[in-house]
Amino acid sequence: MSLMTFLERVADVDAMDKVIEPARKAVNAALRPQAFKDLLHGTWLGHALHPVLVQVPVGSWVSAGLLDAIPPLRPAATVLIGTGVAAAVPAALTGAADWSEQDTGVRRLGALHAVANTAALGLYVGSLVARGKGHGTLGRVLSYAGLGLATGSAAVGGHMSYAQSSGASHSATAARALTTDWIDLGPLDDLPEGRPALRTGKGSSVAVPLTAVRRGARVDVFISACSHLSGPLHEGTVESVRGSECLVCPWHGSAFDLDSGSPRRGPAANPQEKLEVRMEAGRVMARLPGRNR
Ligand code: FES
Repeated sequence: MSLMTFLERVADVDAMDKVIEPARKAVNAALRPQAFKDLLHGTWLGHALHPVLVQVPVGSWVSAGLLDAIPPLRPAATVLIGTGVAAAVPAALTGAADWSEQDTGVRRLGALHAVANTAALGLYVGSLVARGKGHGTLGRVLSYAGLGLATGSAAVGGHMSYAQSSGASHSATAARALTTDWIDLGPLDDLPEGRPALRTGKGSSVAVPLTAVRRGARVDVFISACSHLSGPLHEGTVESVRGSECLVCPWHGSAFDLDSGSPRRGPAANPQEKLEVRMEAGRVMARLPGRNR
C-alpha cells in the first residue's frame, strides 16, 4: 500500500471522531479569546502562521542530525535540538488552532500529525536529558528516532496541504476559473443596499459565483467561495468587525474587509479575492485585477 493510499484511508476512519471531537472542543475552549486564536491562525498577517513557524524546529532538528554525525560539532547539535524543542511549542499552538477549524478528513489526518509530532518532541526532550547526563550515544539514538518520526509527520502535513487543500486559499482556486474580461453584473439599482447579493461570473468551463455588496453608489465584488473553506459568502452578512465594514462568512464567521478583502477575523488567514469594479450606463461591471496574469 502506498503512503498516499494509507493516508487517504486514515482520513476515512470515522471511528477516530469519538476522540477527535472532544479534543477539538478542548482546543477551542483553551485558545480563547478569538483575538488570540486569530493571532495563531495568522489572520493579522494575511497568511497562515503555522507553515512559517514550523521552519524553526524542522530546520533546527535536520541541522542537528547533520552536526551529530561530526563528533567535534556535537555540542552545537545539542544547542539546535534545544532550539527546536522550544520552537515546537508555538508551532504546535498554531497547528492546533488551524486544525480545530478544518474539515473532518483533515482533522483525522491532523490528529495523526499531532500525535507523531508530540512523540517526536518527547524523543527530542529525552535526547536533551540523556545528553545532559553524559549519555551521548543514547541522546543521539533518541534524536535520530525523533528526526525520523518528525519527517514522517511532515509528510502527513504535506498531504493535508497539497492533497486536502488545508490552508489553501479556496477563493484563489475559484478565481482561476474566472475570465479576466469585464463581467456585466446587471443594473446597480437591482442590488440590495448593505447586504450580499449573488451574481454569476463567466468561468472558463463553469459559472463562478460572485458576491456583490452595495453601499450607496459603491459596489464591492468578491469571489463568493470563502478563502477558508469555500463557504458561500453571498449567504453571509455585512457587519462592522474590529473597526471595519466586513463581509462575514456564514460557515465559521471569518470576516473580510469590504474595502480590501483582507481578513479581519479568522479562522481565515488568506484574503478574499476581490474584483475591481466600474459603472457603465448604470450597470455594474467587474473583473479580476491583473496581478497573476
Ligand atoms: S468557510 Fe470557514 S469561515 Fe468561511
